[in-house]
Amino acid sequence: MPAPPSSGLDHRTLEKYESIWAGLSLVLVVLLFVGVLASMISGTFPLLRGGGHGAAPASGRIDPTKLGVTAFAHPGLVRTDSGLELYIVARAFTFTPAVVRVPAGTPITLHVTSADVVHGFQVTGTTLNDEILPGHVSSFTVTFRQSGEQHVICNEYCGAGHQDMITRFIVEAPKKE
Ligand code: CUA
Repeated sequence: MPAPPSSGLDHRTLEKYESIWAGLSLVLVVLLFVGVLASMISGTFPLLRGGGHGAAPASGRIDPTKLGVTAFAHPGLVRTDSGLELYIVARAFTFTPAVVRVPAGTPITLHVTSADVVHGFQVTGTTLNDEILPGHVSSFTVTFRQSGEQHVICNEYCGAGHQDMITRFIVEAPKKE
């Protein structure tokens, strides 16, 4: 079919445009690749680590198949000589305990680990946000300033029930004595 006489674009010009577009898309693909790589290397996640109110992240190793012989055997809040400690186990697709009552205004040291795959642990209303890895204990100290409810969500895709993986902190006003 002959080209319409008014087009003014001959075959050579079209070829030129074509290679310009092909070149541009190649550049974009390379830029995208470099960008993703750079964000992984620079570690976007470590920026979000720890946090909370003056949290001091600590960590330790643990055998995820033997949580039963550790403090994670009975997850929950315990009072020790050094203060309040809260043990939480993440597993597809729940956190244990499912609901935790904590006092406001008291520092609480959280220890979180996973019994299976990588999960996320993000506490709404705080900057607490960490990756929870099996075999690893993530520890942070937080002080909830206000009473109320805070949600804890898994923000790391961990399987079919990921979006249901949620728990709550019920922060209670300290009891008057
Ligand atoms: Cu656990 Cu997503």
